[in-house]
Amino acid sequence: MLEALKKRRAVRQFEARDVEREKIEQLLEAATYAPNDRMREPWHFYVLQGDSLKRYEKVALDYLQKRFPTKSNLVQSSMEAVTKTPLIIVVTSAIVDGDEGATIDNTFAVSSAIMSMWLMAEKLGLGMVWRTRGVGLVHESGLHEFIGASHTEQLVGTLCIGYPEEQITTEKKRTPFSEKTTWL
Ligand SMILES: Cc1cc2nc3c(=O)[nH]c(=O)nc-3n(C[C@H](O)[C@H](O)[C@H](O)COP(=O)(O)O)c2cc1C
Repeated sequence: MLEALKKRRAVRQFEARDVEREKIEQLLEAATYAPNDRMREPWHFYVLQGDSLKRYEKVALDYLQKRFPTKSNLVQSSMEAVTKTPLIIVVTSAIVDGDEGATIDNTFAVSSAIMSMWLMAEKLGLGMVWRTRGVGLVHESGLHEFIGASHTEQLVGTLCIGYPEEQITTEKKRTPFSEKTTWL
């Protein structure tokens, strides 16, 4: 298990090759086994490929051009995260009206589901990165509107997925747990 956890990495460069439907369904199935409070199963998945992904490009471009009106190079390079990704899955979490605690717990559950998808992706020979910032558009309204999510859903992750262009071999060093742990 530790080996699998160490092997999981954020992959941002993909081959120009579609991800098979069967593999996408395996990712989604993996997500549904995540732990979740009171079995609310608070996740919803929006799969963007082909035409819908092309339409999302426009949403991302509009956002970047408004956010960085004088930085066309930055806009162009940031757009590659969309234009060079064959598959995007946007994951939302249910908002529980009048219950902030349950709403937060739902986000925890959805985060667990995304982690399951990330490990599953690795197992299927796919690469993935969980994006929130920039073209991840998790904290903006544009993507929420584009996918047609309801007002009782909040975006948690924009998952960019594909066959990895290269294997990441560099280690991303972690702080030892001893520095992050208080034994009481
Ligand atoms: C909640 C969350 C949001 C993230 N948002 C972004 C993002 O917007 N853009 C990005 O390139 N990577 C994003 N990442 C990926 C992290 O940068 C990456 O996981 C981190 O650098 C550790 O590298 P590793 O996943 O290869 O171990 C995000 C990860 C998490 C968990």
